[in-house]
Amino acid sequence: MLKNAYILTLISLFFACNTSEKDSSTATISPFDQKVDSVLNLMTLEEKIGQMNQYSGFWDATGPAPKDGSAAKKYEHLKKGWVGSMINVRGVENVKAVQKIAVEETRLGIPLIIGFDVIHGYETISPIPLAESASWDLEAIQKSASNAAQEAAAAGINWTFAPMVDITRDARWGRVMEGAGEDPYLGSKIAIARVQGFQGEDLSSEKTIAACAKHFAGYGFAESGKDYNTVDVNHSTLFNIILPPFKAAEEAGARTFMNSFNELDAIPATGNGFIQRDILKGEWDFQGFVVSDWGSINEMIAHGYAKDSKHAAELAVNAGSDMDMESYAYVEHLSELVKEGKVEEKTIDEAVRRILKVKFELGLFDNPYKYCDEVREKETIGNAQMQEGVLDMAKKSIVLLKNENNLLPLKREGQKIAIIGALANDKTSPLGNWRLAGRDGTAVSFLEGMQNYQGNQITYAKGADVYTEPMTFAKQVQINTSDRSGFNEAIANAKQADVVIMVLGEAGLQSGEGRSRAYLDLPGVQQDLLEAVYAVNKNIVLVLQNGRPLAIQWAHEHIPTILEAWQLGTQSGNAIAQVVYGDYNPSGKLPMSFPKHVGQEPIYYNYKNTGRPHEPSPDEVFWSHYIDESNAPLYPFGYGLSYTSFEYSNLKVEKIAEASLKVNFDLKNVGELKGKEVAQVYIRDLVASITRPVKELKGFELIELNAGETKSIEITLSENELGFYNNEGDFVFEPGDFQIFVGGSSEASLNQRIEL
Ligand code: BGC
Repeated sequence: MLKNAYILTLISLFFACNTSEKDSSTATISPFDQKVDSVLNLMTLEEKIGQMNQYSGFWDATGPAPKDGSAAKKYEHLKKGWVGSMINVRGVENVKAVQKIAVEETRLGIPLIIGFDVIHGYETISPIPLAESASWDLEAIQKSASNAAQEAAAAGINWTFAPMVDITRDARWGRVMEGAGEDPYLGSKIAIARVQGFQGEDLSSEKTIAACAKHFAGYGFAESGKDYNTVDVNHSTLFNIILPPFKAAEEAGARTFMNSFNELDAIPATGNGFIQRDILKGEWDFQGFVVSDWGSINEMIAHGYAKDSKHAAELAVNAGSDMDMESYAYVEHLSELVKEGKVEEKTIDEAVRRILKVKFELGLFDNPYKYCDEVREKETIGNAQMQEGVLDMAKKSIVLLKNENNLLPLKREGQKIAIIGALANDKTSPLGNWRLAGRDGTAVSFLEGMQNYQGNQITYAKGADVYTEPMTFAKQVQINTSDRSGFNEAIANAKQADVVIMVLGEAGLQSGEGRSRAYLDLPGVQQDLLEAVYAVNKNIVLVLQNGRPLAIQWAHEHIPTILEAWQLGTQSGNAIAQVVYGDYNPSGKLPMSFPKHVGQEPIYYNYKNTGRPHEPSPDEVFWSHYIDESNAPLYPFGYGLSYTSFEYSNLKVEKIAEASLKVNFDLKNVGELKGKEVAQVYIRDLVASITRPVKELKGFELIELNAGETKSIEITLSENELGFYNNEGDFVFEPGDFQIFVGGSSEASLNQRIEL
């Protein structure tokens, strides 16, 4: 505490001497800016550079100090004040231990900012972000981020590397699980909800943490869906598809951004001054700081853009990367680069100012241990509020893809139910990837969720295993994914059953970073298992558990009922069972298109028309298509069913100003149950100075209706929705003809043309 008290005294002295001068001359400077300057004035160049250096946890913080190797070096740097932030140190005891060194053993006692990947929950795991996005329920998503922040903050964390706002159109990319899917409009709304959820209204509260919009920018467009791959996008895609969710996150107040591993316009994003300096810090006037991605500064050497680590440090800092995550490039080379005149000291000052400001905003200078309360930690982690929160979010994330013969909801009594599939009995896979503080084996499995309902008779057979993890967070268990020895038991159970529920899909770590796939079908022998069971009993409910869209055309053609249950987190089994039994009427809609075949990837609803969009005559060859597969997805973006059904009618579109229109329509619940529908509004700008997509989502509303109830809905679209970015990056509205569509998916057909 001593050193911190020293620095705070200096800050107050500074204010005492400077208040009147500042008051009269620089009214726009915030109190934080003044405090930041007063700290900056005390710092040596090395201490400044230290603030720009982030290390991952390097030893059991509460154990003996490391004596050799890289851990010893990091420890030495921490004591010298050469570390501004740590990642992967968690739990009050550990965070307190490293914070104590920073605050009590360094010359100035500047507190650390403690970052962690709180991607979908801290220890209580909520659905993967892609699944949460399927809820289209912005309030629920915000609440989910807010709970996650509260739980993480109770464990000493004050900064999350989330939300990932990368738009992505290729289901082969493993990190689709981490984002909001393929659409920039939905993605922007969700980015705002998540930033506001993490940061709340008061960043200095001990229940909120700083957000980080990542990965800036273009990472979701890795060629052929292969992680870390080259990105090659044009300006229209950059400005209209990739950047909008980042801009939304910035406007919502995201305090930090993370750059990305990929290149953009042949320059690695980490060293890309156009996006970091010109756009983010220039045009958007972003006041927070940019952290590199893990080791991405040094990765510029492999990209062939930097000749060595020193050169990489120079390129990154000059391009606007303020903090170095685990490249050691800043701490080792920046001081020399300043002395050589290759980096100006004012560039360093600017980066440090940004970092210190966030630390002030978090309240770390007032109390560096404010996130370190053992009692709060114990009371918060895994408490009822967290469990109820993830259960609520999980139910809302489920998407009903098909329900022929109304096999669901299940009858409550007198049924023989055969549950089949390794994932049905898996207490870890539902946690998905990016569950760093989540404990293996803590999810409620589907089988457990179903056992809460007593009226039916349940049997269980594994049938087949899914996947051997290349790297598990716990012990690796080798399994034989081509083993069919479990088929017989599954078939025998299915023969006896009234209804078979098969839980198939991907294991928890089969998607996520580094987990790109070249195939999008059911891994292992699960497809064969499905067909073998179908041969003896056609009454199958297929529950999919997966981290990305899968190509399940055979299942769609044969299996009467399909429920998309993603990876739903700690309360997964309870949520799915409640939907299966009709205690919750599913209302989710897909945030990404599902392909018929992997060969259609990347497949997305807001494609361009091209010059040859339609088959001119039967058997014509020369139009934009495949000769062996249709252009249509298996399930389109925005699609999802309910146990009730909805009808759209009375569409009326009216011009209300030069660049503004009103869309009115009626939505009726024509089924027999109360249910929720996401009513969606799409536009098509028919002629423009650059080609526009065939459809663009521009509004939606989540509406609950009783059976038989009708509601009139009005959605206003203005310049923000009707305009677009031209190739220079300017936002423009061009008058002309527009087509407006409304409906329950991106295949919405009710439409009206209007001239603006
Ligand atoms: C990922 C980031 C993550 C970071 C820290 C990187 O590999 O790309 O998204 O925040 O690691 O864990």
